[in-house]
Parts: sequence; structure tokens; C-alpha cells
Amino acid sequence: MSTFVATEPSGWAEKVIRGRRATRAFRPDPVPEDTLRRIFALAAAAPSNSNAQPWQVEVVSGAARQRLAAALRTAHAEGRTSADFPYAEEMYAPVHRARRAAFGAELYGALGIGPDDHAGRAAYDAESLAFYGAPHVAFLFVHGDGEARLAADVGAYLQTLLLAMTAYGVDSCPQGLLSFYADTVRAELGVTGGKLLVGVSFGHADEAAPVNRVRTGRAPVESTTAFHH
Ligand SMILES: Cc1cc2nc3c(=O)[nH]c(=O)nc-3n(C[C@H](O)[C@H](O)[C@H](O)COP(=O)(O)O)c2cc1C
Repeated sequence: MSTFVATEPSGWAEKVIRGRRATRAFRPDPVPEDTLRRIFALAAAAPSNSNAQPWQVEVVSGAARQRLAAALRTAHAEGRTSADFPYAEEMYAPVHRARRAAFGAELYGALGIGPDDHAGRAAYDAESLAFYGAPHVAFLFVHGDGEARLAADVGAYLQTLLLAMTAYGVDSCPQGLLSFYADTVRAELGVTGGKLLVGVSFGHADEAAPVNRVRTGRAPVESTTAFHH
């Protein structure tokens, strides 16, 4: 039985879960090595089907981070994309597409990039490959051929990692964009095997950056969750 009995709203859970938000401008100062190791040790407590833990995590800092950002920039300039997990806009249902569009308008609005400014959006994407200035980035690889089932385990790891970072006062942004450069990431880090699901840029937020003022809402719980009795 859990040690915590929820008889009233849990302050710490609200604080950590609602306190996490995607950060898209970072200060360059690194997270102390000791904190870094505690965060990843805590994230490893994530649940997975039969406790298989089918993730491989590559944490990149310092000179390796600089080299990787340069390699990604070159790959982008040369149009060398490689995604281990297929992507298509059509995979989204209309309701989800509408939410994506609303979010996009909010984000690009905060950046001062207009709705029809395709060049501006592309330039921002290119810039995003430098991890929004974050001093660290972690890459989450899925091991095995289970596709969605194993990716679900790594998704559970992802959120556990993001919450562990929040709890340690570290800001983050999951970046699906980075997964479109899987071969570049593998080559640069000497990684063999696994499929790249997502990258997570992390460090400390640049609080003065307007992009970090973006706040997202959520669909009403009734529209995504049914309670059966
Ligand atoms: C799997 C995943 C991939 C994401 N990829 C990107 C990305 O490539 N670029 C980006 O700026 N944000 C990315 N995000 C952040 C989402 O845009 C963000 O979580 C969402 O808009 C909700 O906002 P919040 O995290 O601030 O609550 C990603 C989030 C997840 C979970």
C-alpha cells in the first residue's frame, strides 16, 4: 500500500506536475554534475511493462553538446533528416490538429512570427536544433522492436524525467524535432542500436525571454476522460 493517502489535494504533486512547463530559452550555466546524476537516478524509477526498462538514455553536455549542435545545424542545412519513428500530419485527428494549430499560433505569436511567415517558422526550427541554448540535452532511445508498446514505456520514462527535473529546479523542453535527426545524433554520440523517440533540452530558464511566458491550457477533463461505474 502507498505511504501517501490522498484525503486532500496533494500540494507537492500539484506543484511539481503543474510547475513543469516547456521552456524554450535557457541560460548557458550548467546544472551541477551531482544534481544531474540525482535527476537521472530518480528518473530511472519510472514504471515499465514487466519492469523491462527498454530505454537507453544519452546525456550530452559541454564540448560534446557543442559538437552535436554544430552537426545538427549542418544536417539541417543539407536536408539530411532521418526519423526512426514515422511522422505524418495526417496521424492527428481533426480535434488534435485544431489544438496543435491553436498552440502553434500562441507560440509563434510570442516569438513575433506571423501565421504566414513560413520562412520565419523554418528559421526558428533551425535555431531550435541548438537546444534553445540549453547547456544539456538528453536523448531517449527505445530498444527492441515492440514499436508502440515499448515507446509507451519510454513515454513513462520521459514524464518521470521531466518531473524529476522540475523537482530539482531544472527547466526542460521535450523536443520531438530532434528525433528527425536520429542518424546525426547516433553518429555524433557513437550510439548503435535503438530508435530515437525524443530529445529533452534542459538547464535553467532565461526568465526574461518572452517565449517563456507562453502558457498552455488543457482540454476539459470530460472531453478526454470517461468515468465508468
Ligand atoms: C513528445 C513531445 C515532443 C515535443 N516536441 C516539441 C518540439 O519539438 N518543440 C517544442 O518547442 N516543444 C515540443 N514539445 C513541448 C510541447 O509543445 C508542450 O509540452 C505542450 O505544448 C504543452 O505545454 P507545456 O509543456 O508548457 O505544458 C514536445 C512535448 C512532448 C511531450
